[in-house]
Amino acid sequence: MSVSEQYKPLLEDKTYLRHFWHPVCTLAEFERSQPSGHGPMAVTLLGEQVVLARLNGKIVAAADRCAHRSAKLSLGKVCNKNGEDFIQCPYHGWEYDKSGTCKLVPACPDKSIPPRAKVSTFDCEVKYDIVWVRLDNSFDCTEIPYLADWDNPNMQVIVADSYIWNTVAERRWENFTDFSHFAFVHPGTLYDPFFASHPTVLVNRVDGELQFKLAPPREMDGIPEEAPMGDFDYRCTMPYSINLEIKLWRDDSRFILWTTACPVDEKTCRNFMIIVREKDGQPDHMHLAFQKRVLEEDQPIIQSQWPAEISSGEISVATDKVSIQYRKWHRELSMAAVKGKDAFTAALCTNVRDELAS
Ligand code: FES
Ligand SMILES: [Fe+2]
Repeated sequence: MSVSEQYKPLLEDKTYLRHFWHPVCTLAEFERSQPSGHGPMAVTLLGEQVVLARLNGKIVAAADRCAHRSAKLSLGKVCNKNGEDFIQCPYHGWEYDKSGTCKLVPACPDKSIPPRAKVSTFDCEVKYDIVWVRLDNSFDCTEIPYLADWDNPNMQVIVADSYIWNTVAERRWENFTDFSHFAFVHPGTLYDPFFASHPTVLVNRVDGELQFKLAPPREMDGIPEEAPMGDFDYRCTMPYSINLEIKLWRDDSRFILWTTACPVDEKTCRNFMIIVREKDGQPDHMHLAFQKRVLEEDQPIIQSQWPAEISSGEISVATDKVSIQYRKWHRELSMAAVKGKDAFTAALCTNVRDELAS
């Protein structure tokens, strides 16, 4: 049996992902993309080319392809006429309003504009200083993921720049929630390799989240001081967001390491990280440098996984329970989306208690 026969993609139909909100860039990255601070900016989500632009104060997302001769609108500019903002195509200057409707064809301004001179627009919101896009709102049953304490004035927040990994978003999620790699990929950074074995965790599905906890051994040696070590409490909003709340051993304070991934295309994900912590007097760059060190340990291993798509041929063991449950849920969502809104909503929102919990 060839590798491609044995390692078939687990998720053959990924169109269900179009129903979720996905992060596409940080607000700072959007604002840096053009001197005006308003875009346009090109992003890719699930293989779709999307243009972002801030029109009259609100960021809009549209297909990055002019209806005229298919140039990229993201190479154009935002212009203003009589107080209204438009995206102007770089090729022949057609101007599109926030609904994606062409309002001006400069070459023949006195002629009527063809009714089909429109580009598709998508749901777009800014939350946690990140720009989120939802390609398909026909089910309208998904929300932007949970992030603890974003608005808590007693906490300090860092929104890191996003970064690309050459793998799928599911691999990135699984890497972040994988306990048994700590001893091998992060010895002396996050973990003492002497403690390679792990107890089985309880994994519950609650309100669109996978929830589980891990208490690493306190007897570990050789962990650097800047490592946020403590008891781990995970709340993971499908499909790719992880709110890891750590109760730090050193002072019982709360440290939230939040991460999410954008499924850019079948080989690429864009990753986001926010750190929310009780005021600890430590500089932001120290926390960012530590996380960078951890990510640099992970990246070559995760990018080496092949095929990049998670596959049905991989062998799992008891400590892969989080990944097993995660994959199972993705498969259920994939199949439910084909049946329609009710089936998809049920697959997303039905609570499932771990059978070991009773
Ligand atoms: S291609 Fe956009 S105006 Fe012609
Ligand atoms: Fe890791």
